[in-house]
Amino acid sequence: MIRLENINFSYKLNSQHKLWAIRNLSLEIARGEWVTVLGANGSGKSTLSKLISGVLLADSGEVWLAGVNTAKQYDSGWLGVGLVLSRPQEQLIAPTVEEELAFGQENLGLEAAEIRARVEQALAWLGLENYAKRAVADLSGGEQQRVVLASVLAMNPRYLILDEPAAFLAPGEAEQLWQLIYRLNRRQGVTIIWLSQRVEQARGAKRVLVLHQGRLCADEPGDKMFSDSYDWEGWGLELPPLITLSQKLLAEGFSLNLPIFTIDELLSQL
Ligand SMILES: Nc1ncnc2c1ncn2[C@@H]1O[C@H](COP(=O)(O)OP(=O)(O)O)[C@@H](O)[C@H]1O
Ligand SMILES: [Mg+2]
Repeated sequence: MIRLENINFSYKLNSQHKLWAIRNLSLEIARGEWVTVLGANGSGKSTLSKLISGVLLADSGEVWLAGVNTAKQYDSGWLGVGLVLSRPQEQLIAPTVEEELAFGQENLGLEAAEIRARVEQALAWLGLENYAKRAVADLSGGEQQRVVLASVLAMNPRYLILDEPAAFLAPGEAEQLWQLIYRLNRRQGVTIIWLSQRVEQARGAKRVLVLHQGRLCADEPGDKMFSDSYDWEGWGLELPPLITLSQKLLAEGFSLNLPIFTIDELLSQL
């Protein structure tokens, strides 16, 4: 269980000014949920992802992770929260891909054979089998993003927080990532928190949150979020054309089950 209670967070701009990036935010996420947090640029997504994972501490309010208050977690060890930051360079530390993947597990004190097995599994999941010896610094943004994902997955997180994980990926790669996350959530019960400014990435999410100017503006089941009407424009978000089209077809009398995110889903229902 993840619980945020009345969180306020500010960045200190200078000795006089603060910028409130998260305001009065309360939230509970149960084990095994798949939640997508949508919000325009600057709405507070990255700040929220770091608050949830304990990388940043709130000015006021409390964050509880698996029963531990993140402000007091000094000796509780790893709480099973994997965070994938939106900028891979912020998170990559080792010279080569395989060292990067092994790093977090070495910190967990795992045995060499176990680490080896997990590294290979994670490389395969992300299609990085041929990258083990490559220098991390020489990889493209999309490749680096996959390396970060692989290194986080190699740690077997129980909670996975993905901050714009598809930002540097090609469409095909983004689809593969979605399939992988889907399997982790449905088969292994990994809790997924996927933050994005692209509404189509809420596909599959049972629950959708909207962040606007640091405030939580919506917390709805995915099917409701994309069949009822909401102020997407006011939130600075763009509803995918297929969703708008399927809503209009439904209003015209077609019998459709919303939400519809892909052309195949639409065709199979028409
Ligand atoms: N390190 C920082 N120092 C000062 N302001 C920041 C910092 N990081 C983010 N901000 C500001 O906080 C707000 C929320 O940013 P962020 O959480 O990165 O939003 P998002 O990820 O949704 O784009 C924005 O107004 C941004 O400019
Ligand atoms: Mg961000």
